[in-house]
Amino acid sequence: MKKVITYGTFDLFHQGHYNILKRAKEYGDYLIVGVTGESYDIERGKLSVQDSLLTRIENVKKTGLVDEVIVEEYLGQKTQDIINYNIDTFVIGSDWMGKFDHLRQYCNVVYLERTKNISSTQLRQQTGKIYRVGIVTDTDSDGTIMEEAKNVSGVHVESVFCEDIKVAEKVRDEYLLDLAYDNYEQFLDSVDIVFIITKLEARYEMIRKALEREKHVIADTPFSLDKSESARLMEIAEQNKVALLENMVLVYLRAFNQLLWMAQGNLIGRLLNVKASISADSFENSSGFLDLAKLPICAMIKLLGTDYETMDKRLFRNAEGNLTYCLLNVEYAHTSAWLEIGTEAEFENQLIIIGDKGSIIVKDDWWNTGYFELKNNGKKHVKKYSFNFEGSGIRYLLQELLIMLKDNRTQSTRLFPAEAEVMTSILEQITETEKV
Ligand code: CTP
Repeated sequence: MKKVITYGTFDLFHQGHYNILKRAKEYGDYLIVGVTGESYDIERGKLSVQDSLLTRIENVKKTGLVDEVIVEEYLGQKTQDIINYNIDTFVIGSDWMGKFDHLRQYCNVVYLERTKNISSTQLRQQTGKIYRVGIVTDTDSDGTIMEEAKNVSGVHVESVFCEDIKVAEKVRDEYLLDLAYDNYEQFLDSVDIVFIITKLEARYEMIRKALEREKHVIADTPFSLDKSESARLMEIAEQNKVALLENMVLVYLRAFNQLLWMAQGNLIGRLLNVKASISADSFENSSGFLDLAKLPICAMIKLLGTDYETMDKRLFRNAEGNLTYCLLNVEYAHTSAWLEIGTEAEFENQLIIIGDKGSIIVKDDWWNTGYFELKNNGKKHVKKYSFNFEGSGIRYLLQELLIMLKDNRTQSTRLFPAEAEVMTSILEQITETEKV
């Protein structure tokens, strides 16, 4: 019996999928189809898939052409499957031409011409609602959001606002956007989602106006250093039934959520201390002090909660009087945190979570990572956890927003308003002391 295997996501099953399965079957007597698993798609950055794994498998089966369906769960699985299932021929569409030649050492490899003028991507664009995204910036944007949005179906970055129209036009032309504005009201009328990346002083007003015009908003943390202003924004978002999300990629990362779950799930015992260090060295564009500080504070709050008892601050400034280094010692009833933030000092970036039965260590750029290590049982065992992580992470945030909108939710479950409120209050305390 000749065995054939082929793979795909098979989202929004279409004629092109049917054709390739039919032609694949002609290469043998028994056809196995590998359908990509949900987490595999997410890990490889394909966030646009609309049908669930079950639906996609059902659709493949319904063709009546397939003898067996398997789930493709990791990179490199194809080789293993070919060996395990004793495959004679591997079939794939011509969009992958040449990419699977290395499998020829195990079986025949056949590239079949794709059916023209149809694809899941095209169908997703035709069927689903496309949210128009507008960027609010006060400098030349680096294009990260535009690049990231391309990986999420259901959003399209269309316009840019900047008070300086020359900057807005430059961004529009560089990233092939449709429109550039220096009139905020007109800009707001042209979009559904506003992504606000501006200096702190301008943020509150920008967010408020967008929410009042019933636009969904993603904005940098903190929205404002004034607690009552931040609370007001939450209120407006709730009243107008629109989403207001923090641009805090950390809480959307799979690796961070996994370590959070492990730390809280008693895998390293009772939590004794969280140490988080972050220095500006690793950022291409020198970030402001608060932009750095919010990351360790967010990690601490997610890991240890919002109800800390005391916070001791040590702040250092450079000759110009700007804050350059800060140590925060935060005491909780049964645990504590030690946070180190520096814009000029050089030190190792790391996040260490210490429990009485082990520890979790995330080295280097821990706020943007797919990798961590867990030590327990007297440190004899080091377990390494690795998750693929694509791009800057903003795509995961956009994806979360789309899921929220689909479910008619306006509040993210990744960073609760109460958590954001405590984060803002700690940031406010740092700047307050700075003014003394
Ligand atoms: N395929 C094809 N003709 C098409 C579309 C897909 O022959 N018009 C083939 C692909 O080459 C692949 C298989 O069908 O071998 C599964 O493809 P998949 O990636 O699931 O479908 P696409 O429509 O290409 O999806 P997307 O637009 O998300 O990339």
